[in-house]
Amino acid sequence: MRIVLVGPPGAGKGTQAAFLAKNLSIPHISTGDLFRANISQQTELGKLAKSYMDAGNLVPDEVTIGMAKDRMEKPDAENGFLLDGFPRNVSQAEALDEMLQSESMKLDAVLDLEVPKEEVVKRIAGRRICRRDSSHVFHVTYSQPKKEGVCDVCGGELYQRDDDSQETVRKRLDVYHTQTEPIIDYYKARGLVVTVSAVGTVEDVTTCVMEALKPDEDGK
Ligand code: AP5
Repeated sequence: MRIVLVGPPGAGKGTQAAFLAKNLSIPHISTGDLFRANISQQTELGKLAKSYMDAGNLVPDEVTIGMAKDRMEKPDAENGFLLDGFPRNVSQAEALDEMLQSESMKLDAVLDLEVPKEEVVKRIAGRRICRRDSSHVFHVTYSQPKKEGVCDVCGGELYQRDDDSQETVRKRLDVYHTQTEPIIDYYKARGLVVTVSAVGTVEDVTTCVMEALKPDEDGK
């Protein structure tokens, strides 16, 4: 399956992606995690990306599209992938279409996670991620690590993302509404969007998402 996950910052895309990727045996490709890995390795791409991320803006398409394409061309993505955070505007969606068409591939679904703003703000305020691998995500109330400040998966130090400050989150939400939400209509026009309420426990949301992704009686 080739799936795109969409939803506001803090909706739980990364959290759900980890479960879905495992259940569906496809890689979880997060452009945010790829940028954060570049930042911790202090690459040129990481330095460039950080300045945009810390301000809550999108990293320019010129670098983002190439990075996403390189990752999607890795052998583990040959039979499908779960894209988290890409595409994030209409020009990235068009670039993804071109990539897929050139390989005679198509998307199966665009999963739109809906969460009210107040909930998103609570989720982001309490989020802690692992310094060694930013896909290891916890929450001080909703998803506590066994030992405070320590990642259950790899023992890395947990910290609050630089772009999770109140001011930057406000900006990220604005950017989501103005630049990312239009891709939902772009994909709705092609009948690909599946909207799921992401309110409830992580497990409840995973159940709803798996249900929503099941083929209907026509096999669609
Ligand atoms: P990115 O890392 O993609 O951030 P985002 O889209 O803003 O999403 P988040 O990671 O904030 O949230 P999430 O929905 O994954 O929530 P999570 O599962 O962690 O991008 C960061 C930046 O990189 C962008 O601002 C941009 O600058 C740049 N960038 C990335 N991709 C780009 C692109 N394509 N083009 C240009 N720039 C790009 O959950 C949040 C918290 O809630 C966690 O603590 C979790 O434990 C908790 N939680 C999750 N589910 C539940 C639940 N059901 N109940 C209670 N708590 C829950």
